[in-house]
Amino acid sequence: MKVLMVCLGNICRSPLANGLLRDKILLNNLQVEVDSCGTSSHHVGEQPDERMMETALQYGYDLSDLRSRQFTVDDFDRFDTIYVMDSSNYNNVIRLARSEEDKEKVKLFLNELYSGKNMAVPDPYYGGEQGFEDVYELVDKTTDIIIEKLK
Ligand code: 4NP
Repeated sequence: MKVLMVCLGNICRSPLANGLLRDKILLNNLQVEVDSCGTSSHHVGEQPDERMMETALQYGYDLSDLRSRQFTVDDFDRFDTIYVMDSSNYNNVIRLARSEEDKEKVKLFLNELYSGKNMAVPDPYYGGEQGFEDVYELVDKTTDIIIEKLK
């Protein structure tokens, strides 16, 4: 099983989801791979946002080894499930799909927590510290649910 987390810049929301899920996979001895990327090329090669890394570290998650990369069409072949953080990411990924099979892999991340609500993980990039805290809470709860599904 291979899971991909996708946001816009791959420096805030999706690296957090990547970092939390990979540590929870290890804790639960699951045979699952996780990676993350962004639909934009804007931050390629960069470490996660300092504020996101700081928030994650306060809860014991180290994101410092992660580097931003851009989503490519090959990701449809490499991953079983592609979780997107908001509807804009969803549209950007779906636009690149080559088949119905590709499209079926793409899911809104927060629908695992709030089923059928099509809610977004809010983009914290232009906001204050509380935004990062709010994103952490949502991503922590949702990755717990994903782990239960993967068991
Ligand atoms: P992310 O947040 O998609 O959660 O990584 C953003 C990071 C950077 C930008 C937007 C969102 N940006 O416009 O540079």
